[in-house]
Amino acid sequence: MALRSVTLPQDCGEEAFRRVARSCLAHRLHPDEVIFDSSGTGSLFEPAEPRDVPAILMPRRFVDLASNVVCHSAEDRFALLYRLLWRIHGGERHVLDRAADPDVQRAQQYAKAVERDIYRMHAFTRFRERVIEGRPMFVAWFEPQHRVLQKAAQFFVDRFTNMDWMIATPSGTAAWQDNLLHFGPPVARPPKEDDAVLDEVWQTYYRITFNPARLRVNAMLAQMPKRHWPTMPETSSVPELVRTARNRVGDMERSAPDRPPRFAGVLAERRLGAAREVPAPWDALKEAAHACKHCPLHAAATQMVFGEGPLDASIVFVGEQPGDQEDLQGRPFVGPAGQVFDRALAQAGIDRGTAYVTNAVKHFKFEPRGKRRIHQKPGTVEVTACRQWLQGELDVIKPKLIVSLGATAALSLAGRAVPVTKERGSIQTWGGRMVLVTIHPSYLLRLPDPDVAAAEYDRFVADLQRAKLWCEGAK
Ligand code: URA
Repeated sequence: MALRSVTLPQDCGEEAFRRVARSCLAHRLHPDEVIFDSSGTGSLFEPAEPRDVPAILMPRRFVDLASNVVCHSAEDRFALLYRLLWRIHGGERHVLDRAADPDVQRAQQYAKAVERDIYRMHAFTRFRERVIEGRPMFVAWFEPQHRVLQKAAQFFVDRFTNMDWMIATPSGTAAWQDNLLHFGPPVARPPKEDDAVLDEVWQTYYRITFNPARLRVNAMLAQMPKRHWPTMPETSSVPELVRTARNRVGDMERSAPDRPPRFAGVLAERRLGAAREVPAPWDALKEAAHACKHCPLHAAATQMVFGEGPLDASIVFVGEQPGDQEDLQGRPFVGPAGQVFDRALAQAGIDRGTAYVTNAVKHFKFEPRGKRRIHQKPGTVEVTACRQWLQGELDVIKPKLIVSLGATAALSLAGRAVPVTKERGSIQTWGGRMVLVTIHPSYLLRLPDPDVAAAEYDRFVADLQRAKLWCEGAK
């Protein structure tokens, strides 16, 4: 068997690799016949495209995987990718679905390592201000483990569009100047220079955000490997913060805040209420909520999700915030928690069509993770920013009873944190409105023990029945 050597440049990216792989496939070169050599600085050798060969398609999943794997520093990365491509074209169309396949496993490990490296580059690159040829320029030195500079650069363009910057790595540089991104050859590692102002900023930031009660040295080192420490000014504070953590936790316990005085709740309520400026008619209220930019959630969410139901409803249900499905459909409680809610309502004898259903926060708060959007609990800032919309809805509807589903709804309605599991089932007066406190239906979805889940579900239905009976008895 004659071996064909394909020389790829060290910085061979995904497009160049795809071109070469296509040619090799078109020549029917078996993976064992090809040696991909990316060790030198040789130029790209491509077996010429043979004529009369139908175009070779690469499945989307393969292209996505390959775009990360080509950045890995392992020498076998191109051979591995070509072998997978060969298998896909040889009839194993679904090989990438086989997580236990050794080639697939290895390729996924490489892709993950590259993603981690990109994440670290984003998190740990520290710029210093310099004047270069009379112009201010922010420069940084970073040593990634893989060839991730090109993939990582767009993040810095988006973040630091208005300044000129350069990131140098041992394998090349990326520079953003005059609104253009350039990639250049490597430069020598610069000598370590301090920047009194920026270094102080990073150190102060780290000291303030370091929580001694949460100290886990191994997890910290895994997250922030020591090889990146030399270019991160704040790491000089770490040894002392670790050494003094135990004493600081003791200090924190001794100086734990006193219980707030009883009037604090009244003051908080007044403060939250003061922010309210509700536009009068319903449509104006809804329109203003659609345009709301009082907190950052509007930026990433698909849309504002307002409440729905008859405006003369005697009962209003208040949840936390729209989830993934609600954000896409623009309607409250239509996802998995909504299904549990619907079932419990029906069992309690409440027709959802007669009730008004809404949320304390009107935009979906989430953290992107790959293609998924992971729900994030809204904090006091978002609840407070959104409170005027909920209050506006309640002002118009004037329900006999509000059912507060979970802690976030209770925070918004009471203006203070409410221990929901302790107070559930009780009917309280908050800000002049009658409120029944209960759990959020998504809590039922998270209970691992089916017996506990069934018992909790029954208690939830009982809370809803209580709300219904109370409303029927109320004038
Ligand atoms: N959870 C909520 O609190 N509200 C919804 O609309 C959906 C899920």
